[in-house]
Order: sequence, then C-alpha cells, then structure tokens
Amino acid sequence: MKIDVLTLFPGMFAGPLDESIIKRARDAGLLELQLHQLRDWTHDRHKTVDDRPFGGGPGMLLKPEPIFEAVESLRREKTRVVLMSPSGRKFNQSIARELAQQEHLLLVTGHYEGFDERIREALADDELSIGDYVLTNGALPAMVVIDAVTRLLPGVLGDDTSSSEESFSAGGPGLEYPQYTRPAEFRGMKVPEVLVSGNHAEIAKWRAEQARLRTKEKRPDLV
Ligand SMILES: C[S@@+](CC[C@H](N)C(=O)[O-])C[C@H]1O[C@@H](n2cnc3c(N)ncnc32)[C@H](O)[C@@H]1O
Repeated sequence: MKIDVLTLFPGMFAGPLDESIIKRARDAGLLELQLHQLRDWTHDRHKTVDDRPFGGGPGMLLKPEPIFEAVESLRREKTRVVLMSPSGRKFNQSIARELAQQEHLLLVTGHYEGFDERIREALADDELSIGDYVLTNGALPAMVVIDAVTRLLPGVLGDDTSSSEESFSAGGPGLEYPQYTRPAEFRGMKVPEVLVSGNHAEIAKWRAEQARLRTKEKRPDLV
C-alpha cells in the first residue's frame, strides 16, 4: 500500500513511524510512506498557506490553492483522499479494515482553524476524526490512522491471526478476553485454572464468556 501525507510538519512523523512494526513494514516494502510539505505548493516569497476567514472570527484557515495543487499532483486513479478533521466520521477498527483494502491513501492534515470549506467539498473522498477532542494539527491523527491501517496489511504482523483475535475484531466489535503469560502464579495471583488445563474447547468457551463480560462492564455501548 502507498500512503502519501500532506502536512506542514513532516518532522513530527520521524520517530513513531520509524520504529518497530511500522518500520519493518516499510523496510519490507509492504507500506510505502511519503511525507509532503504543503508549503512546496505555494508560489509566494513567504510560502503562505493560510488566510483570515471571510465574515470574521478567530484564527486562520488553510487556503484552497496550495492544497488543491498538491492533491491534484499527488492523486492517482485509485487514490482515496482523506481529510483529517474533528468533523469527520469517527475512526475505528472497521474503518481501519476498510482503508487497509485501498491501494493508495492521501491523508490531508490541517492546522490553525482547519480547512477552507471548498477543500472539503471538492477534494475529499472521506473525512476522519480520531475522537471528540481538538488537537493542534492533523499529524498525530494521520499517524494514528497509518499505524492502525498498516498493522492490518497482509504480512505485516508475524502471525496472520493476531489482528483478528483482538479487541474490535474477533467476531464483533467487543473487547479482547483477559490474557496471561508465565509464571502461572505471581505474588499470589494465579492464572485461571482453565487456561492451564490443556482443554481447548473449554478455553475457547471461557475466553468468549470473559470477552462478553469485559465488554459489558467496560464498554456497554458496544454490546
Ligand atoms: C485546531 S484543529 C481545527 C479545529 C477546527 N477549528 C474545528 O473546530 O473543528 C487543526 C487541525 O488539526 C486536525 N485535528 C485536530 N483534532 C483532530 C481530531 N480529533 N481528529 C482528526 N483531526 C484532527 C485537523 O486536521 C484540523 O484541521
């Protein structure tokens, strides 16, 4: 998969996307990630990307010209242009799965008070929010989307089943069951008997029940 990101802060992406699983996915060619500085599509001496909102009001808006030019030069036939914005649909695991099917994503990140509305109307195929709070710019939201999508790409996680057994995936939108590793007893806390029984049918039953109880207790909205 190819992901292009349009941003005013390419430096913010160094680190989170250069470590661990995402780094390995990039090194293996499973994810081709390219960061683009929005100011490269400006034509004035100050590389201006923002302007005051018509009608007044606080702050500055990203003006249309540089973003239109950038998207038009980066977009290909099968590109999904995704605007990062608190007004978008709320990002979740099922949207991550949907995006992981795409050939090419172009993530357009905002700053200041956000985008001139014509950018939203004419360029965006999708608009995503990572939650009901406001961040200073769209770099962190874009990184969240890139991380969640990349780990779903075939071959990225070592064990192909490991992303289908976890929260929001295993047969529904619920949470994952509790998990334990060695030692079987730690500071007086014992691993549930059934998990060391070797009875796989009983273990599966216990896990399904625990996942159901945990979801009901912690995230009743998902039940
Ligand atoms: C300060 S915010 C703009 C907020 C905008 N005035 C509003 O009320 O919706 C600047 C940029 O950060 C990004 N951003 C901030 N919070 C976000 C969120 N929860 N999800 C996705 N993007 C977000 C968007 O790209 C946005 O254009």
